[in-house]
Amino acid sequence: MKILDLAPNTGDFLAEALAGLRASPATLPCKYFYDAEGAALFEQICELPEYYPTRTELTILRSNLAEIAALIGPHARIVEYGSGAGEKIRMLLDTLEQPAVYTPIDISREQLLNSADLLQQDYPQIEVLPVCADYVTELTLPVPATSFSRSVVFFPGSTIGNFTPSDARAFLQRFYRLCQQGQQPGLLLLGYDLKKDPATLEAAYNDSQGVTAEFNLNLLRRINQELDGEFDISQWRHEARWNENSGAVEMHLISLQQQQAKLNGDTFHFTAGETIHTENSFKYHASDMQKLAADAGFNLVKGWTDSAQHFQVQLFEAKAQS
Ligand code: AVJ
Repeated sequence: MKILDLAPNTGDFLAEALAGLRASPATLPCKYFYDAEGAALFEQICELPEYYPTRTELTILRSNLAEIAALIGPHARIVEYGSGAGEKIRMLLDTLEQPAVYTPIDISREQLLNSADLLQQDYPQIEVLPVCADYVTELTLPVPATSFSRSVVFFPGSTIGNFTPSDARAFLQRFYRLCQQGQQPGLLLLGYDLKKDPATLEAAYNDSQGVTAEFNLNLLRRINQELDGEFDISQWRHEARWNENSGAVEMHLISLQQQQAKLNGDTFHFTAGETIHTENSFKYHASDMQKLAADAGFNLVKGWTDSAQHFQVQLFEAKAQS
């Protein structure tokens, strides 16, 4: 399988980790959660009883697939951001009328290659063109040999929640540009988590089996293993908090005692209770996301939710360029 490789290298990881640790309060970028170990832990998170987003989105998609496929129409090119294990895309490809091209974009190279290979085997009629990249990279899509009717950006899994609302808007603007290729107007199929009671939100990120804690701590393990860092993993604990002001569930690593950690010749001091902020997971009202998408050039075609209104899937169409 040929792959367009634009992924960040270890040098970027070191530079970004150092910048985050020097900041006050300290931060580490959440995109580095996903090495092979982190990707496997995330798969486990998706199975947790408390973590409702993945299964709820699957239910919404499954219940409305025929309608979604009809709105997309035949011979589409699907561009999927954050392809992961590929369960959702298979449902979609199975229902679409003769999908022409599939371009999965993911930061986790191994996972991307494995799932793209498997998918190509199972869907020999579709042209599969994977791109390994950080989402934030401004990228030009590989040009398919197959002609297609329209470009559909598929961005499921509430990954958009990792961006601040203003970064999310910029991201949607990039999708607007990405979906221009094709004879028909571009589409965006977006899945994201809705605002709801804080107890449900916090439980989803503070699971009782401690899998999310391992996922969070894996970031420090990566720093130790790949960057030769010296963090005492046993002296950190995971915590997730709903921040009502920002509208995000925040993940933190909390220092259990006064301690220091070393990385690349720098020593970082932490007091007991001091935190490293590792992730934001922003939640939206459907009307707020519709507004952000409108700012980026999209009209809402239709939206779907589950009976508990925990999660939202929306289909947007790119307005004609002015
Ligand atoms: C992959 C960003 C959607 O924010 O819910 C899950 C990541 N972090 N548990 C999310 C995550 C902790 C997840 N996203």
